[in-house]
Amino acid sequence: MINIIGAGLAGLSAALTLAESGIRCRLISAQHSERAQSVLAEGGINAALDTMGEGDDTGLHFEETMKGGVYLADPNAVRALTENAPAVVRKLADIGVPFNRNPDGSIMLRSFGGQKKKRTAFAQSSTGKMIMTALIDEVRKYEAQGLVTRLPHHTFVRLMTNGTECTGLRIRDTYTGKMYDLNGIVIAAFGGMNGMFPHITTGTVTNSGTAAAVLFAQGVRFANTEMIQYHPTTIGIPGKRCLISEAARGEGGRLLVMKKGYPWYFMEEKYPELGNLMPRDIVSREMFFAKREYGTAYLDMTGVSGDVWKNKLSDLREEIMHYFPLDPKKDFIPVEPGIHYFMGGIYVNIRHETSMRGLYAAGECACQYHGANRLGGNSLLGAVFGGMTAAKNAAAYADSDSGMNEYRDDEPLIAELPAGSDERLGDILAGGLGIVRNSVTIKSALDRLDALQCTVAAEKVRKELGRAMLLSALGRMESRGAHYREDCPETLDEFAGVTVSQLAGGAVRITFEDIPERNDNGSNV
Ligand code: FUM
Repeated sequence: MINIIGAGLAGLSAALTLAESGIRCRLISAQHSERAQSVLAEGGINAALDTMGEGDDTGLHFEETMKGGVYLADPNAVRALTENAPAVVRKLADIGVPFNRNPDGSIMLRSFGGQKKKRTAFAQSSTGKMIMTALIDEVRKYEAQGLVTRLPHHTFVRLMTNGTECTGLRIRDTYTGKMYDLNGIVIAAFGGMNGMFPHITTGTVTNSGTAAAVLFAQGVRFANTEMIQYHPTTIGIPGKRCLISEAARGEGGRLLVMKKGYPWYFMEEKYPELGNLMPRDIVSREMFFAKREYGTAYLDMTGVSGDVWKNKLSDLREEIMHYFPLDPKKDFIPVEPGIHYFMGGIYVNIRHETSMRGLYAAGECACQYHGANRLGGNSLLGAVFGGMTAAKNAAAYADSDSGMNEYRDDEPLIAELPAGSDERLGDILAGGLGIVRNSVTIKSALDRLDALQCTVAAEKVRKELGRAMLLSALGRMESRGAHYREDCPETLDEFAGVTVSQLAGGAVRITFEDIPERNDNGSNV
């Protein structure tokens, strides 16, 4: 029996992979799959399908993913990801994802950031929702056969260990308050740490980050936690930020600021080759500087054709008009960068094994494929492929002990935070981990963190994970990808490694480790 924490894309993908091999699993989640963050993904999923007659191939996908991540990702894992991407997307199409199609019936691809070829398969701009719908349906077949058992409205409390390895987990039924111990291998697939950055994230804020923090507190090694992606085009809505998909720029949208009364399309002037479709770290940083000098940045979609609006972006137009009294066909849209993705997280190897035997991780909670900056369209791919890989490798260790026992003693309710706690932590972290950072802002955030009063266990573990992020940012005395230090603007060879953080003896320890050597067996995972 394998226990999967999280029923979003990575969790569903893992469950499906296991069930297809006849291995039983439990899908444990605070909310139903239909409400997972994965349904918010808009623009698409990358695969070098080469259906647009551009001569794309998986080698180029590999190179651009490595370059976009400023060579901080594990090259062998990225090779496996990119080589398997076409098969992943074809499988999704086979189970019913309604990808946009070319007139010859092949899967249509669009342009996305950091890629010179059209490589992003999409379903209008609701790709995440469409993939999730198909996977939910597919997994349901196996639920009916008893191979997948769903435990929705259950939160993760902590791992059970025998000192060195993970033997199961404790969960809490949020309706009854009862706690249960579940034996077996665990796959963590609970998404990113968005809830540690309320108001400034596009992710779901119900994803509190506490599960990640509990694993960190239990000694699991994390990596590159300073690598936080700001998506260039977001708009503020109550409690969070709403994404305006990169597809908007992939289909012709242009970024500008008003300079002396005239639009200045700064990305096009500064980066003639990829313009508005430079990797996100670069676009967000340029927006930061342009906004600092000229004020509001806008997205200009007035040149997008009626046909593209109708056939590729109709849902995006509705979304924008829902939040603004403007029509993107005629008006500029005011946009700002917002936290969108965590490249860092639970450190896994190419087999998606964590530092704790018996614990695997996949999807956004895992640090693996994206290095210092993720390319748009690689997250859905990483979640599906990561879920498959984790499941395949975990299956080899699956045992038959499927016990689920009610646990009756008192346990500090790790999932419950006092009112305002997430805002207080988020404010401190945002101060130190902005698009542009320096040692003064990071140290000041660390001082404020030291002074932060915590009353419950969940606050304490989140505080330590926040400390790991800040110390990682302080220790990486260079600029690379999403980590831009105004006081250390160069990219330095001595930091071409992974920032590993671990809680040991009550203290957060940061070390730098080499990236695995590149070999030719990448797809053999
Ligand atoms: O802009 C977007 O549609 C986001 C895609 C992604 O993060 O992969």
